[in-house]
Amino acid sequence: MTTSMVKLENVGKKFKDFVAAEDINLVVKSGEFLTLLGPSGCGKTTTLRMIAGFEQPTEGEVWIDGQLVNGVEPYKRDVNTVFQSYALFPHLNIFDNIAFGLRMKKVKKDEVKERVVNILKLVQLEEFINRKPNELSGGQRQRVAIARALVNNPKVLLLDEPLGALDLRLRKQMQVELKHLQKKLGITFIYVTHDQEEALTMSDRIIVMNEGLIEQIGSPTEIYERPRTRFIADFIGETNIFEGTVTRKDTKYIYVDCAGDEIKALRVDGDDLDGKVYIAVRPEKMDLNTKITENLSLLKCTFKEKIYTGSITKLVLMLQTGQEVIVNQTERNRVIVEEGGLLQMSWHPEDSVLLTS
Ligand SMILES: Nc1ncnc2c1ncn2[C@@H]1O[C@H](COP(=O)(O)OP(=O)(O)OP(=O)(O)O)[C@@H](O)[C@H]1O
Ligand SMILES: [Mg+2]
Repeated sequence: MTTSMVKLENVGKKFKDFVAAEDINLVVKSGEFLTLLGPSGCGKTTTLRMIAGFEQPTEGEVWIDGQLVNGVEPYKRDVNTVFQSYALFPHLNIFDNIAFGLRMKKVKKDEVKERVVNILKLVQLEEFINRKPNELSGGQRQRVAIARALVNNPKVLLLDEPLGALDLRLRKQMQVELKHLQKKLGITFIYVTHDQEEALTMSDRIIVMNEGLIEQIGSPTEIYERPRTRFIADFIGETNIFEGTVTRKDTKYIYVDCAGDEIKALRVDGDDLDGKVYIAVRPEKMDLNTKITENLSLLKCTFKEKIYTGSITKLVLMLQTGQEVIVNQTERNRVIVEEGGLLQMSWHPEDSVLLTS
């Protein structure tokens, strides 16, 4: 058994002079749920299509289950793809839609029936077996599309924004269902989305792409808690980014002057940063004080406004440089803000994330 189910080595794709993907190196483990995440146009679909075989790389090697598959036709690869547009056959009922691929492969009639019924049970659509696609809701249609791919027992399922057409509530429900299904079947999933919350919810690991390049690979926690670059810190969740100048370093921390105040951040592996650097801090990690506490990073600020968003209220604060900073409201800092005047925002140095670019 190989533990690496899909491997891309130095893969690149050019459309004429335009570089859609460059120097992509990744290993997807067997049974893993891996997500390609990034803004529109960053090369997610292109990368997925090279794994599926719909697109040939202009550079590098694609491996599936220990086999080099460059030049191998899509239908000869042990992968199935689920697209955003479900592409179901409108004139066929659900049973026949799902059975289609198996019949093409000349699977015996009894086996077709058994496999289709089993997969319909799995996606909880048995009762709709005789309906046509236009007699189903969007979420149900999407489940048919997923069932149609799964019925072939692929080693790898590729999913390109499969929940994109669904409303928020249904999307959240399907995220959980899909994740359970993947765990239960143990199939390797490579999932594409531009929705960071979706990626954080579902994935074992996330690959963040930007302009055709991989910016970071990590677990959802690593990506959220320890973004490596300004692009990622900004793209994933809400964050405050402080610019400053390195003043000194010790074995554990780097000290950064930020408009006369000092910020302390944990050092990162191999950081040789000097001069101007950027530090990211999440709004939920920050607090407000009226007096100085030891061993915290502190920045002077004034209160500007409150933004009510339902589950949380955000406080907009202004640094002396004019930069706005968001801190989540808590019971404690609510009182402090009402007092007004000059405040200090504070946080633990462990929550300062040093960005490498
Ligand atoms: N066949 C093609 N010919 C020329 N350029 C292409 C082709 N396919 C994709 N591109 C370009 O490559 C870049 C990456 O496209 P891709 O579809 O991979 O983006 P994406 O990350 O999937 O974006 P989205 O989130 O909008 O789906 C885009 O700038 C796109 O215009
Ligand atoms: Mg795409």
